[in-house]
Formats: sequence, C-alpha cells, structure tokens
Amino acid sequence: MEFQIKNSAIITKQKAECLVISIASGKNQSDFVKDIDNSTHGLVSQLIKSGDISSELGRTTLLYANSNNLKQKLLFVGCDKAKNFDLSQAKKVIQAVIKEVLAKKIKNIAWDLLTINQANSAQIAKQLPQIVSDITYQFDEFKTTKAPVPSLTNVTLFTHNENELPQLASNLLQGQIIADAIATTKNIANMPSNVCNAKYLADQGKQLGKLHSSLKVTCLGEDELAKLSMNAYLAVGRGSENESIMTIIEYAGAKDKQAKPYVLVGKGLTFDSGGISIKPSAGMDEMKYDMCGAATVYGVMQAVAELKLPINVVGIMAGCENMPDGNSYRPGDILTTMSGTTVEVINTDAEGRLVLCDALTYVERYNPKAVIDIATLTGACIVALGHHYTGVMGNNDQLIAQLVSASQKAGDKAWALPIDNDFQEQIKSTCADIVNAGGRDGGTITAACFLSRFTEKYQWAHLDIAGTAWSSGAKKGATGRPVAMLIQYLLDQ
Ligand code: BES
Ligand code: MN
Ligand code: ZN
Repeated sequence: MEFQIKNSAIITKQKAECLVISIASGKNQSDFVKDIDNSTHGLVSQLIKSGDISSELGRTTLLYANSNNLKQKLLFVGCDKAKNFDLSQAKKVIQAVIKEVLAKKIKNIAWDLLTINQANSAQIAKQLPQIVSDITYQFDEFKTTKAPVPSLTNVTLFTHNENELPQLASNLLQGQIIADAIATTKNIANMPSNVCNAKYLADQGKQLGKLHSSLKVTCLGEDELAKLSMNAYLAVGRGSENESIMTIIEYAGAKDKQAKPYVLVGKGLTFDSGGISIKPSAGMDEMKYDMCGAATVYGVMQAVAELKLPINVVGIMAGCENMPDGNSYRPGDILTTMSGTTVEVINTDAEGRLVLCDALTYVERYNPKAVIDIATLTGACIVALGHHYTGVMGNNDQLIAQLVSASQKAGDKAWALPIDNDFQEQIKSTCADIVNAGGRDGGTITAACFLSRFTEKYQWAHLDIAGTAWSSGAKKGATGRPVAMLIQYLLDQ
C-alpha cells in the first residue's frame, strides 16, 4: 500500500476513485466540504441538515458517483469535535473508513484526515499506516486457500500548509516502516513451533543481516553457550531435540562506532510446554507464542536499520525450547548461572527467567547505555494488567518513565509496576542463592526481582508482554506489540 501527502486546498481535483471527507460537529465545515458542496449544488449541506451525513465519531456515509454531478465516490466520515480529534479518536475514524473502503473494494482514496486537527496531525500521520496494516494483515501461509489481496493500494492525504509538508511526509514514512516492522514481528511470532525453532530464528536473523549492510548477525549454539557457562539457559533447552541458539543482531548507526549501545533482549521460547512441571493441555498450543519477545526484537532491528537511526543498538533473540524428556532439567536442580549466582529450580515452567538471566549477563560486555528485555514472562501479568497494558519494571526510574511515555506516544500502552526490596524476600532459597519461582503472589514482580539480580551493572528495564503479545479466541494471533513502543523509545533517543 502506498501513502503520499500533498499540499492542496482543492480536493475535488484529485483523481482518486473515492474522496474521503471528514465531517466535524458544529457549523464551520472545512474548505473541502464547502468545495464539494459547491460542486454538488448544495447536496452536502442538505444531507448534513437532514442528518443523513453525521458528525458522529466513525459514522460513514457513501455517495456513489454519477449522482448530482459527482465524478468520484464520496465517503463522509464523522469526526465529532475537531478540537478533540486526537490519536484515539483518529484510530476509530481510520478503522471505520478503511473497513468501508475495503468492503466496497475501492482501490484508491484521497482523504482530508490530516486537516481536521493540525495539532495532532503529525502523530496521526505516523499512526495511519500502522492502523491500515493492522486491519489488512493476514497470516495465511498455512492456508491452502489464500486470503484475497486487499483492494486498496493508494492513500493520498492533504495539508493546507506547505510548511507542514516535510514533517508530515517524514512521519508518514516512519509510520510505514513501523507498520512493516510490526507485520514482520507478527509473521515470525505466528510461526508454529514445528517450523519456528531457535535455528529458524537464527536463519531469519542471518537473512535480515544480508538485507542490511548496517547489521552484523552472530549465532551462538550450544557449544558456544557452554563455553560461556550459560548453564541456566542451556538447562532449559536440554529436554528439547532442537538446539538452543542465541542470535545477536548488532547495528552501528552512531557516528562513534564505540558509542554505548541500547541493548534489547527477547525471550525466544519457541515452545514452552512447562518441561517436567508440565502445563495443563488446555491452551498449551498458545505457548508457540512464547517467542514473541524475540520476534519483537527482530521487528525493531529491521526498523532501526530501515530508519537508519543515529545510535548503536544490539538485539538478542534468546532461542530455546522447553520440553519434558529424560534429559530435561528438573525441579530441585541447582544451576550455576553465567554470573556465578546459583538458582534452585522450583518449577521448570519458570524457564523464561533462566534463559534471560544468562543472556542479560552476556550483554554486560557491550557496556550498554540501557538494556531492555522483552518477555512473555508471567501469566500473573495478565491478571494484573489484562490484555491492554504491557508491564514495565526495572532498576532506573528515568528509563521506566521514558518507556511509558514512548508507549503513550505510540498508542502501545504500558504501565509500570513496583519492584521494591519487599518482594525480593520471595525468591530466597534455603540451599542456593535464589529460587526461580517466588510463588503466586505478585508473580510478575518476583519474576522481575529474579532478573534484577543479573542486571546490576547497567540501566535496565523489563517488559512483560504475556498479556499483550498475542490475542486468543476467534482473533488468535500475534499482535506485534510492543514493537511500536520500542521504536518510539529509540526514536526519542
Ligand atoms: N510463558 C509462560 C508465561 C505465560 C503464561 C505467558 C500464559 C502467557 C500466558 C512462562 O514461562 C510461565 O510458564 N510462567 C509461569 C511462572 C510460574 C511457574 C512461576 C506462570 O506464569 O505460571
Ligand atoms: Mn513457562
Ligand atoms: Zn515461558
């Protein structure tokens, strides 16, 4: 799909198959509406008066060509009060318009969307490609009958203001790159575990490296992980036939190639059966999504390369599979992590933190500016924040605040949870330094407490995406979250 922006006051001159006209509440309609009203001999004001065209948020009215002097189809969309037209209002309007346009198989539209409320137009320009891509996304790789390709191929937007054009055009382009990154993350995250194992993640990483000369990709297999004493990571994968592989994607975009990098570490459990502490069978299929953290890292690294950000970034995909087997690690085992800290395994289903702790120790070598891990870590996070908010924790209040603020800007919600010392009590062990499972209460926070023991050397934040990375039920599938929030965070740097 192509998006472009033009500086024009005359919408009726556009060659598009359909003109999309925003209708705000109140007497003052836009110049576009007046322009169309004139060329239709007052039809539009008549229809507004009669209530057939309404300013009710997201209400659409389609007028076909050939009636009343019309050369194009006209799609009116209600936008309520123009001064209240913000990101969340815009989202509803965009969804309504795109659904109508797709239903009517319209191929290209010209739209006054960015003129409704200029204060928010830059933000809306960035969101538009993402919202459209979200609606048209299909994962049909394993369907014998493929979904039809969406009709819509071109979206033209307007500004009245020549000076605004460069900013809006650049935001629109950024939005397209972010939309592509989200779709890429969904594609990887939706792959089933019989296709997507740690080797698959590594191969995808290598392919991305081939596409961008700014990316360097390295893969560490079990022999290399063993040499590094990443014993907790290796223990989790021991019951699986699939090799554990940690894939490292390095991007050097800063002028100073030695500048401290931002490091992203993604949990990449390509399947989490629970291991010996096996999960109940109902819903276990969804544990193919336990690699959404790694898929997020992949999408973000793709965007970072495409946006050519002037910073250094390292992305880690910690690929692994948690399976029950004669060779599996067991409850009661004591593991010596790469950092030397010993862990008593209480529950082999609390495996994500064991993989992450060694990856988090590994990244010390980068002398990072900040480290953010992304993980479908705890079911408890769904209890705490539902499917709406990603949980944010960490050891640096400023970093946490920056992430929450980026999440708001990106419309990819996140909320901070406290990890003070009171919770650390719950991960004490009688026979090792710490346990890997701190009980039911505050499970999201005690998991973060566990990780905090391995992140003392740098500024660190942890994103628990258990509730946000995928949807269940009729709409089962990866959401691509929190790619948008992380790209926004990196853009802000
Ligand atoms: N991958 C799961 C967390 C999860 C569960 C995410 C359901 C989304 C939906 C994780 O590895 C896990 O099993 N966590 C356990 C930890 C517990 C044993 C301390 C959990 O949340 O039950
Ligand atoms: Mn688990
Ligand atoms: Zn897991």
